[in-house]
Amino acid sequence: MFKGVLFDLDGVITDTAEYHYHAWKKLANDLGIDMDREFNEKLKGVSREDSLRLILEHGKQTESISTEEFTRLAKEKNENYIEMIQSFSGKDIFPGILNLLKELKENNIKIALASASKNGPMLLDKMQISDYFDAIVDPASVPAGKPAPDIFIAAAKALGLKDDECIGIEDSQAGIAAIKASGAFPIGVGQATDLGSDIILVDKTDQLTYAFLKTTWSE
Ligand code: BG6
Ligand code: MG
Repeated sequence: MFKGVLFDLDGVITDTAEYHYHAWKKLANDLGIDMDREFNEKLKGVSREDSLRLILEHGKQTESISTEEFTRLAKEKNENYIEMIQSFSGKDIFPGILNLLKELKENNIKIALASASKNGPMLLDKMQISDYFDAIVDPASVPAGKPAPDIFIAAAKALGLKDDECIGIEDSQAGIAAIKASGAFPIGVGQATDLGSDIILVDKTDQLTYAFLKTTWSE
């Protein structure tokens, strides 16, 4: 049986993936760069700085942006994003997630947050679910971001578990690659066209019950 669950945040616990998208799209458009949802799939799970790098590459503007301007743009995106999520509360938790957190606790399964977002702890507080988490990995503390496995390895370790004793739940291409590379068992939230057809996928978070996790683990 699995002993821990390593959660991504944005797009798994709540709908913030959508707000990251809108904040990045605004920034890109202000720079005269086009950005659609297909391109956005490449940004999901990726750190703030790496996301900005990908957008500038996409718009062929890498050369024209100074280090100071880069820092200013990353800050601007984050300020805009934070403004968008100000009113977040318990009602913004995706369907089924609170129930899953409760079921995991009742069954002594450890819970960790393995999110690339520096806003993660603040969002958990706003949604009043911080207490369910036995560990929250600071993304700034790991050497490499997703798709590197570092954050999932650190999350399992923080729970006192081996990677192959844990399930990782992700909505992003980078995140699924990171879980696979860590040795944890991946479950994807989303479509095969985005996340691949070689892993267990759910369409909607309310499918993520403890019973479902146990069944997929044992199969
Ligand atoms: C990930 C999101 O969880 O966190 C990305 O999927 C985001 O879209 C990244 O860029 C970093 O988040 P933040 O809040 O630190 O800018
Ligand atoms: Mg995500």
